[in-house]
Amino acid sequence: MCGIVGYIGKRDVAPLLLEGLQRLEYRGYDSAGVVVNSPKSSALKMVKAKGRVRDLEARVPKRFAGTTGIAHTRWATHGAPSDENAHPHMDAEGKVAVVHNGIIDNASDLRTKLTAEGVEFLSETDTEVLTHLISRNDADTLEEKVRGALKQIEGTYGVAVLHADFPDRIVVARNGSPVVLGIGEKEMFVASDVAALVSHTRQIVTLDDGEMATIKADDFRTYTTSGTRTTAEPTTVEWEAESYDMGGHDTYMHKEISEQPDAVDRVLRGRIDDRFSTVHLGGLNLDAREARTIRRIKILGCGTSYHAGLIGAGLIESLARIPADAEPASEFRYRNPVVDPDTLYVAVSQSGETYDVLAAVQELKRKGARVLGVVNVVGSAIAREADGGMYVHAGPEVCVVSTKCFTNTVVAFALLALHLGRIRDLSVSDGKRIIEGLRKLPEQIQQILESEADIKKLADDYADAKSMMFIGRVRGYPVALEASLKLKEISYIHAEAYPASELKHGPLALIEPALPTVAIVPDDDLLEKNRAALEEIKARSGRILAVAHQEQEKADHTVVVPKNEPELDPILMGIPLQLLAYHTALSLGRDIDKPRNLAKSVTVE
Ligand code: M6R
Repeated sequence: MCGIVGYIGKRDVAPLLLEGLQRLEYRGYDSAGVVVNSPKSSALKMVKAKGRVRDLEARVPKRFAGTTGIAHTRWATHGAPSDENAHPHMDAEGKVAVVHNGIIDNASDLRTKLTAEGVEFLSETDTEVLTHLISRNDADTLEEKVRGALKQIEGTYGVAVLHADFPDRIVVARNGSPVVLGIGEKEMFVASDVAALVSHTRQIVTLDDGEMATIKADDFRTYTTSGTRTTAEPTTVEWEAESYDMGGHDTYMHKEISEQPDAVDRVLRGRIDDRFSTVHLGGLNLDAREARTIRRIKILGCGTSYHAGLIGAGLIESLARIPADAEPASEFRYRNPVVDPDTLYVAVSQSGETYDVLAAVQELKRKGARVLGVVNVVGSAIAREADGGMYVHAGPEVCVVSTKCFTNTVVAFALLALHLGRIRDLSVSDGKRIIEGLRKLPEQIQQILESEADIKKLADDYADAKSMMFIGRVRGYPVALEASLKLKEISYIHAEAYPASELKHGPLALIEPALPTVAIVPDDDLLEKNRAALEEIKARSGRILAVAHQEQEKADHTVVVPKNEPELDPILMGIPLQLLAYHTALSLGRDIDKPRNLAKSVTVE
C-alpha cells in the first residue's frame, strides 16, 4: 500500500527520493509525489502525478534542487487516483507538506469544521485535513504543531512533515502504520519500509505506535506524542541491498520461487536439536510447563498466511495432538470471539503489518490472551505486539503474491508442532522422522524447481481456461486453496478450491471439458478416496491435472513430486502450483509482480 520516503542531508534529494519510491513500488500504488525544501527559497517545491513513479520522474523539472524532501506512493482510499489526490499535500502558503499512510477516521468532520473556518481544500483526501491542522497551529516549534494536529485526529497514521520555516528537520509520527528511520553519515533517511533505505544504510530505528521523531542531518530524537523522550537504539538490518533486487530473474516472483531451497534451509538453521529429536524455539517465551497447559491453538492470518495457518493447524493437531484451527483474522475480530485463557493464539503475517491481523492481536491482548507471532519481517508491528513467536527467515519478499514466505511459514509451523509435540506425547522416533523429513525439504524443493520447463508447458496448455477448480482432501485442501488464490491473483483466471470430499455435494455440477481440475493426490491413506474423486470428474469429461507422488491414470497430466513424511507433503505439493500460476500468468502477459488492485501489505482495513 502507500509508501513514504524522506531524506535530510547534503545530497541532491530528488533522485534519492525517486529511487526510494521505486523500491517501494512493489507495495502497490496508483500515484506518487515528491516535495523538496530548497536552501535558496522560502517555499517548498512539489511535483505529483497519477500513475507510476516513472510518470512522476518525467514531470520533475531540471531545476528541482534541494537537500531535504519527502515523497510518497499513494494507494487511493479517500478520493480516486489523481494528481490532486496524490501526496504530498501542502497548505495554501506552500509552507507545510505532509505525506501520510493510514486512514483518518474523523476526516470528514474535521473537513467540515475547517471549511467553515475558510480553508479551501484542493483534494478529496483525508490527509489534507492534517496539513491544514498543522499549518493553522500557532505553536512555536514544528514538533508542537504536529503534536497539536495529531491530537485532533482519530485513525491510523505513518506521517512525515516538512515545513519551510523549519528547514533543518523532518518530523515523523507513527500510529498503526510503520515508520523507520535510517541512520547515515551526516545524513538521515525516513521510510515506511526498510526496502527504501537499505541501499544507503542498514542502521535503522523502528518507531513504536504513539512515537514521534525529529530527524536532522546529523541527529535524531524520538519522543511520545505527548512529548516524553524515548530511547531508540539503532539496529542493523539483516539483509543486503542486493536481496531486494531482481538478481537476474525476470520477475521478483520467479526469483522468490527459486530461492525456496535456501529459504527453507534458513528457517531450519540452528533450530534442530538431534539429541532430543526436537527443535529450539527460544523466541516463543513459553516454557515446557506452560506449553503443557495449552488446551487449544487458534491461528489467525489473512490470504496466503491464513492458508499457511490452516496447514499449521493440521500439523499441530497431528504432531502435538492439541486441537487447533485457523481462521481469517479479518473475520475473527468482528465476531466478538470468546477468548479462552487456555488457548494459545498465533498470528501469522509475512509483512507483520497487515491491519486486520494486527487489530486481532491487539483485541486479543486487550482481553488478556497469550499471542505468538509467526512473522517474516523482523521488528514489524505484529512481531512487536506479540508475547513471543518465531521469525520465518524467508528474506525480503517483494512480489505482491507470496510464495517463499508461504513455504517458510508452513515449515515454521512444522517446527512449532514438533516442539509442542515433543513436550507432550510425540515419540522420539516420530520426532526423528519429522526432523529427517524437514532436512530433506531443500533438496526436494530444488528437484521440483528443476521440472519448471514441464510445468511451463502445462501452464501454456491450461492458460485458455476461463475458470479452474482445485481440489484436495484434509492436508491437500489448504494446498488447493493456496494454489487457487495464487492463480487468481496473478493470472486473473477465476479459480475455486474445494475439499475433494465435497465434490458431490455441489461443485460436481460445474464439471465439463471447459473446466479443468487441479487435484492434489498424495500417496497417503486417502489415496483411494482421492482417486475416486478423479473418477467422478473423468466420468463427466473433466480435464484433470494431478499433483501426486506417482502418475495418476485418470489424470490427463500428472506432476510427480518427491515423497516426504505425510505431514510435510503439503509443503512440497504447493511448489509446482506456484510455478503453474506463474507460467499461466506469464503466457497471458500479466504484470506478475504487481497484479491489478492488489498491494503487498494491506495496512488499512
Ligand atoms: O503480510 P501478510 O502475510 O499478513 O499478508 C496477508 C495477505 O494480504 C497476503 O498473504 C495476500 O493474500 C497475498 N497477496 C498472497 O499472495
